[in-house]
Amino acid sequence: MGLLSYVCMLYCACLIFTVTYVSTQPHKTKEPIIITDSNWTSVLDGEWMIEFMAPWCPACKSFKEVWNEFAGWGHDLDISVGVIDVTENPGLSGRFLVTSLPTLYHVKDGDFRCYQGIRKTTDLIALIDEKKWNNIEPVAWYRSPSSIQMGILGNFFTAAMFIRGVYNTMTDVYGIPEWLCYVIFAILTIITGLLLGLLLVLCCDSFFPAKYIPLPPERLAHKPRDDPTDDDDIIDDTADQKKGNPPATLPASSLSGPENNSDLRKRPPHKDE
Ligand SMILES: *[C@@H]1O[C@H](CO)[C@@H](O)[C@H](O)[C@H]1NC(C)=O
Ligand SMILES: *[C@@H]1O[C@H](CO)[C@@H](O)[C@H](O)[C@H]1NC(C)=O
Repeated sequence: MGLLSYVCMLYCACLIFTVTYVSTQPHKTKEPIIITDSNWTSVLDGEWMIEFMAPWCPACKSFKEVWNEFAGWGHDLDISVGVIDVTENPGLSGRFLVTSLPTLYHVKDGDFRCYQGIRKTTDLIALIDEKKWNNIEPVAWYRSPSSIQMGILGNFFTAAMFIRGVYNTMTDVYGIPEWLCYVIFAILTIITGLLLGLLLVLCCDSFFPAKYIPLPPERLAHKPRDDPTDDDDIIDDTADQKKGNPPATLPASSLSGPENNSDLRKRPPHKDE
């Protein structure tokens, strides 16, 4: 009896100790590092896990707790955990072609991998600790966020966001009606197009100056006679066909080059003369 209660007490103590130990173990959370359009290149250094989010996205709000907890593990896992607000950094959402939120990326040695697995702290830790990211195919070179073309795409996103901001200011702050905004944007687009076209023409002109190629003198000399000879040509051609010349000879003569061709054309008038 004494032994049994002793064992029971010991068991209970163990249980209580385990429960209190687990629950009182410091619940590490940390704010992830904020990454912006201007300092995003720091993710190319070392190993990173980054999250794309937006304040309005409900899935991001519920994921925030997990991400902060994961960021708390960052030091132990020897990685940096970052967060990107796409509403403030449209250039980065263009660069990474973010189509859904939240989007998670693993970045190491310039390789970008989009993580689409389970979004739980334990899974995220396993992804890094057990190097499970090795199983994910890195983003192809032509879509790599550090490439020039994706940078250009990022600039387009920034420009689009800027125009959207201007539009919102026009409608909300200045109370300009929507249709007028569209008219203004249409006119601006046309003007920009014209200016770009003008610029292109000017560039072409300065790099490849147009050469004046005067008409060859013999052409100028023959010019007055051109019209009658043209008529002769037509008449002669039909005459040839009437005579029953095989049409197969025509392609052959045309193959022999423009000089021969023109010779043929000029022959009939010479005969006449
Ligand atoms: C980037 O800039 C933001 C604010 O400008 C700053 O809070 C953040 O720490 C910077 N991130 C890095 C990786 O330097
Ligand atoms: C013109 O055609 C003749 C045959 O009809 C050929 O001998 C001659 O080389 C051709 N000349 C040119 C410039 O092609």
